[in-house]
Amino acid sequence: MEKKKIGHGVKLISSWLNFKEVLIKRFVFFISSVFLLILLSSSSLAREKGISETVFSPSQECGKCHINIHQAWSNSMHAKAIEDPVFKLDYLHALDENGEKIRGYCLSCHSPTTRYTGDIYLKNRISREGINCDFCHSIYAVDLENPKDPFKVNPGSTQYGPYQNASSPAHIATYSELHTRSEFCAGCHQLKNNFGVLVLGTYSEWKEGPYPEQKVYCQNCHMPKVPGMPIVDAKVKKSELNMTAHEFLGGHSEINLQHAATLRTQFEVKKSKALVAVFVTNAESGHKLPTGTPVRKVILSVKLLDDKGKKITEKEKVYQKVLLDQKGDVLTESYKMILEASSILSDNRIAPKETRQEKFEFDLPPGIKPFSVESSLRYQYPTPVLTAGLMEVEMAKQVVSLPLGKIFLIGFFSWLRVFIILLFLFLILWMGYRMLKRRFL
Ligand code: HEC
Ligand code: HEC
Ligand code: HEC
Ligand code: HEC
Ligand code: HEC
Repeated sequence: MEKKKIGHGVKLISSWLNFKEVLIKRFVFFISSVFLLILLSSSSLAREKGISETVFSPSQECGKCHINIHQAWSNSMHAKAIEDPVFKLDYLHALDENGEKIRGYCLSCHSPTTRYTGDIYLKNRISREGINCDFCHSIYAVDLENPKDPFKVNPGSTQYGPYQNASSPAHIATYSELHTRSEFCAGCHQLKNNFGVLVLGTYSEWKEGPYPEQKVYCQNCHMPKVPGMPIVDAKVKKSELNMTAHEFLGGHSEINLQHAATLRTQFEVKKSKALVAVFVTNAESGHKLPTGTPVRKVILSVKLLDDKGKKITEKEKVYQKVLLDQKGDVLTESYKMILEASSILSDNRIAPKETRQEKFEFDLPPGIKPFSVESSLRYQYPTPVLTAGLMEVEMAKQVVSLPLGKIFLIGFFSWLRVFIILLFLFLILWMGYRMLKRRFL
């Protein structure tokens, strides 16, 4: 009843007002249909091209033409930067202890499109893609003076890349020298926290090493050219341009790790001591070894082995950056390092191309004969608690035996000892016999 009354009342409004209302209605209708038309045509355009004109597109869209690159990227830690169980667990703990305010902060690197979409609850699929194609290829500048907001992006129809002569029906292809330089990666691979502690310093470690001078950038090692693999599917375009590896292999890959370091071992035995010297060289890692989140460790271990290859004894040396919180306690979890580290207790990681000499001294228990020494380098990083806990990869190994002459000599000297003791016993017995003989005979 009430509603009808109101409806009746509206009809009573003066005729000129009514006329104005009709005009406004028509105007609104006209404007909205124009808008609708534009929207429809642009979205059908977008559907035809597959990628958005104005916002970030999902990676599967790029994957329709860049099939091989998409496949490689899907297996990368970049594509797993949100789904990675190690990150997930750490992120949950961080939220638990620090509240909602840190969501945006962690995601600014692990799901960088959220910087612009504000989707910090990861509702959209694109936010769960981690570091995706369109984010990296929308970057046109990086401002390292402004570490909280270093990326200048232009999402939409322009894709920035390393080639000057690329042309695509799906998007504008614009040359970007930045994409071939370390500064591109530095926006994320360098993190100074609120206490001024450099938690992640991969970029500055590279910058301070010998590689910038040789014009060897992050991309040269982590994104090598894949010969014979064109950047785009042949059905789309017969391209002359080769793709680069988009797996971004690093500490999670044995291939890279087994080339990173070399070992040279010296071994000698002096009296009751075994002396071992190991030279560890960071041969092919472009930054410190290890780099990245300081939960990673590289462990040098030296084992004395007997002639059957059985371990007699072992010593270790650990290379890592150790961070402390304000109370002076050692931090062991990534999020705590990022949020709470207030000082660096120690950092003995090996710089690029640096060779470290380590000396080990073993006391040899009597009767123990070392035959060889095995030195090895292991890379250790955490895996989710529910599976293994810690993961280790062997980076390098070397077994060095004592020179044959030396082994003979050790043997010789021990036989000599037995001989001398026997001689001594014989002498005593002989003298005793002589004394007895003199007294009684
Ligand atoms: C319809 C197919 C198609 C789609 C979809 C597509 N591309 Fe391309 N893209 C191409 C072609 C073709 C080239 C140029 C190849 C050539 O010139 O040899 C290219 C070139 C590029 C280049 C090189 C640019 C340069 O100047 O170095 C980048 C980067 C790129 N695409 C990124 C993307 C990203 C990111 C997406 C998704 C948002 C995407 N593309 C979607 C077909 C496509
Ligand atoms: C938008 C931020 C961002 C940019 C830009 C970026 N990365 Fe990453 N990168 C990350 C994050 C976050 C991870 C860790 C993901 C994880 O483990 O959860 C990562 C992981 C990696 C790894 C794997 C490490 C491992 O443990 O195996 C390598 C290698 C790597 N990045 C190299 C690069 C290189 C080279 C560039 C520049 C071409 C680059 N990244 C650009 C954020 C970024
Ligand atoms: C972490 C940032 C990052 C991500 C994520 C990323 N790229 Fe790239 N991409 C680069 C960089 C840097 C280069 C230039 C490498 C070089 O030449 O030194 C490149 C090069 C390219 C090129 C030129 C050809 C080539 O392979 O060098 C294409 C095409 C391309 N990317 C497409 C894609 C597509 C498609 C995806 C997603 C499936 C993707 N990229 C994901 C950083 C990224
Ligand atoms: C000369 C080759 C080379 C250059 C240049 C180089 N890296 Fe590496 N990088 C390696 C090797 C080898 C490893 C594996 C051993 C290690 O962890 O140091 C690695 C490991 C990594 C890891 C994994 C670390 C971890 O703890 O799992 C990341 C991330 C990374 N590099 C990023 C970068 C970035 C960013 C740059 C540029 C600022 C860069 N790299 C420059 C060779 C290189
Ligand atoms: C400035 C960018 C940046 C921010 C902010 C950031 N991270 Fe990361 N994070 C990285 C990069 C880059 C790596 C890869 C380091 C490597 O492997 O060398 C990484 C690696 C990690 C890892 C190790 C993943 C693995 O598989 O070993 C964890 C866990 C992590 N981050 C948690 C967090 C949490 C939690 C936050 C928020 C408190 C956060 N990160 C904020 C850039 C960032």
